[in-house]
Amino acid sequence: MKIRVSNKKEQRQTEIENIHKAAFRKTVSAEKAQEIVNLVHDLFDDETAMPIHSLVAIENEKLIGHVLFTKVTITDCPVEVEAQILAPLAVLPDCQSTGIGGRLIKEGLHLLKEAGTDLVFVLGHIDYYPRSGFINDAKSLGFEAPYYIPEEFAGAWMVMELSSGIIGKAKGKVECSDVLNQPQHWRE
Ligand SMILES: CC(C)(COP(=O)(O)OP(=O)(O)OC[C@H]1O[C@@H](n2cnc3c(N)ncnc32)[C@H](O)[C@@H]1OP(=O)(O)O)[C@@H](O)C(=O)NCCC(=O)NCCS
Repeated sequence: MKIRVSNKKEQRQTEIENIHKAAFRKTVSAEKAQEIVNLVHDLFDDETAMPIHSLVAIENEKLIGHVLFTKVTITDCPVEVEAQILAPLAVLPDCQSTGIGGRLIKEGLHLLKEAGTDLVFVLGHIDYYPRSGFINDAKSLGFEAPYYIPEEFAGAWMVMELSSGIIGKAKGKVECSDVLNQPQHWRE
């Protein structure tokens, strides 16, 4: 299995969208899965999401996993930071639980660090992302999510620092790109 960067929309976009459709269809309604497919489609055209970092997992020339990172800003942050958010991530159902999701995250974070990213956020499975180093409850570390997250889901809003010591210095409200900042992407 190989991981490749695929930042241009024309690069196998339909295959990428089909990965999300198949993966999310297993866990959420058809309507919600289509919303995520549309999100992926639209983020590639969203100027406010740039720079994006899109990575695909490939096995025998077939795309089997995809992760997308897009730019976020932190309002009223006392220090200058470059920050990104991981959304969404998907692996084809038949290929799950073999480490592909973890590899996509790891290689994505490596790329982000090389590009000068200081902080990475994710809203997601509370037990899954800490395996890759994300810290639960980013709000308690000073980072407010774009929309209110109920207390019982506070752990799902996570952060990771790629610049040592930036957590503690940076704080503020995270604002995503125009496309990702829509409220439907922040509801269960
Ligand atoms: C979540 C997802 C990307 C993980 O991909 P993957 O390639 O299967 O992940 P990995 O192989 O790196 O890790 C698998 C491990 O994570 C665990 N895991 C998977 N989904 C999890 C979840 N929602 N919560 C907690 N752990 C989870 C698996 O049980 C497995 O555990 P094990 O190693 O002890 O067997 C994949 O299951 C998927 O595409 N799901 C549907 C779409 C989705 O929910 N995306 C994430 C949105 S936040």
